[in-house]
Amino acid sequence: MMKRFYCTAGAGLEELLVEEVKHKLFATEPVCMLDQVEQISGRVFFCSNAHVNTMTQLKSAERLFLLLRKAAPISLPKNSAKAAVVIQQSIVGDANIWKQSLLMWKALQTELQDGQQHGQKRKREEDDSLNAVASSMHSLSSNTQLGKELNQHSITFRVSCRCSGVIARSYTSQRLSCIIGMAIKEKLRWKVDLKEPIIEVNVNVSDHHCIIGMPLLKHPLASRCYMKHNGLRSTIAWAMTFLCPKPLNDSVILDPMCGVGAVLLEAAQEYSNALFLGMDTDMSQLQKAAENVNAAGMEEKVQLLQSSAMEIPLTSGVVDAVLCDVPFGRKFSCSIDMPTALPHLLKEMERVLCVGGHLVLLLSLQLSAQLKKIICKHKPKKHANSIDTHCVHTDPSSTNNECKDISKTLMCHKSSSEISNTPMFITSLQAYRTHKVSLGSTDAFIHIFTKIQSEINTH
Ligand SMILES: C[S@@+](CC[C@H](N)C(=O)[O-])C[C@H]1O[C@@H](n2cnc3c(N)ncnc32)[C@H](O)[C@@H]1O
Repeated sequence: MMKRFYCTAGAGLEELLVEEVKHKLFATEPVCMLDQVEQISGRVFFCSNAHVNTMTQLKSAERLFLLLRKAAPISLPKNSAKAAVVIQQSIVGDANIWKQSLLMWKALQTELQDGQQHGQKRKREEDDSLNAVASSMHSLSSNTQLGKELNQHSITFRVSCRCSGVIARSYTSQRLSCIIGMAIKEKLRWKVDLKEPIIEVNVNVSDHHCIIGMPLLKHPLASRCYMKHNGLRSTIAWAMTFLCPKPLNDSVILDPMCGVGAVLLEAAQEYSNALFLGMDTDMSQLQKAAENVNAAGMEEKVQLLQSSAMEIPLTSGVVDAVLCDVPFGRKFSCSIDMPTALPHLLKEMERVLCVGGHLVLLLSLQLSAQLKKIICKHKPKKHANSIDTHCVHTDPSSTNNECKDISKTLMCHKSSSEISNTPMFITSLQAYRTHKVSLGSTDAFIHIFTKIQSEINTH
C-alpha cells in the first residue's frame, strides 16, 4: 500500500511547499507521482517512497503527518448519540485502514531511529520524538513478541481535533475530540492516554474536508534545532532564499538587518559554499545571532558586523544577494522612521549588489506600497556611492575596529556626507516576483528584484 503523507504550511507557503516536495522528494521517483501532490489551504498532500529523513528536511513545512483519511466534509446531527454514529462511520470508518496505518507509522519510526543512528540533521526534533518513539517502540516490539500480530489493545492514543465552519457552531474542538476518541476506542480497542500516548490522532474537520493523520515527529519541522534564539519564522526565512531566481552557490550574501540571523542561517543551510555577512545596529541582537551561528556550526561561513544598513560599509557591487527582513510594527526598536528611511535603505542595498545580483525584501503592506513608488522608471540623478565606515568588527562582542576575512576584502572607507543626496527613484532594480505570506497577526510580502545595468550603474 502506497504511503500517503501531508504537511501543514503557513498561509502563503503552500505553493512553495509543493515546489519543494517535487524538488526534494520526487527527484528519483516516477513522473506520475508528481500528479499526486495536492495543495489545499494550509496543507500539502503527497505520496512518496522517499526515506522519511528526507521528508524531515522539508524547510517550508510546519509539521509532517502520515495520512489516514482525507474525506468529504461531514455534517453532524446536534444530538450527541446520533453524532457519535456518524463519526463512527465517517471519521473512523474501516478498522483495517487504521491497523495498516499503524504498521506504516511504526515502520516510519524505525526509519527515523535508523536515521538518527547515522547522525542525521534536525537533532532536537528527532531526539525528542525518538525518545517518545523509543518508549512506544518498546511497547510495540514487546507486543509483537507476545503475538505475531501487533496487539491493537495495548495501543494508547489521544485525539487532537480542530473544527471550523458549520460544524464549529454546534461542537467545540474539545467535544469533537472526545466523541472521536470514544469512537476509536470502541472500534479499535485502543486505550486513551491524554498525557503520553503512543499515537496522536490529528483530525481537521471543516466545511471543505475531513482530514485524519498521525504526526511523525513530536516537534514541528519548522523549529530548527540551531535557533537558540528565535527571530523571523524559519519557514519564511527559508522562503526568502528559495524565491531567489537562481542558485546562490559561491556567492556573497548579505543581510544588513540580520537580527538573530534567521534569514542568513536558512540560506546557509541551502548553500554550503557561499559566504554570509550579517549586520545589525543592535549589539544584543548580534550576540544572539552569534550564538545561533555557533549552534549551527557556521562560524566559518557567517560573519557578523555591527553596522547600520543606512551606511553599509562595503564597496559597491561586491554582494551577489541581499536578503533583508525590514523592521515594521512595534516588535523591533528602530532608530529610524522606516517609511522615511526606505528610499535611502534601498539605495544602499542596491549599491552593494553586483549587476545580476538579487535583492529579496520582506516588507509590510505599507512599506510594500511605498516600495512601488521608489522603484520605478523615473530617471535618477547621479548618485555618489560614498559612505563612511565606523565601528565594524567581525566578532560582535569585540570592540576594536579590526576587520577580517570577507568584510576586510569587501569594505570601503568613504565619507557619509553625501547620504542626503540619495535619489528618490531607483531604476536598476527589475521586479522578478512578489509573494504574499502570513506572519500570524499580519500579512507581509516577499519582493524579489534583480539588479540590471542602468545609467546609475555605469557611472
Ligand atoms: C525585523 S528585525 C530582523 C529580524 C531577523 N530577520 C531575525 O530573524 O532576527 C530587524 C532588525 O533590524 C535591526 N535594525 C534596525 N535599524 C537598523 C539599521 N539602521 N541598520 C541595521 N539594522 C537595523 C534591528 O535591530 C532588528 O534586529
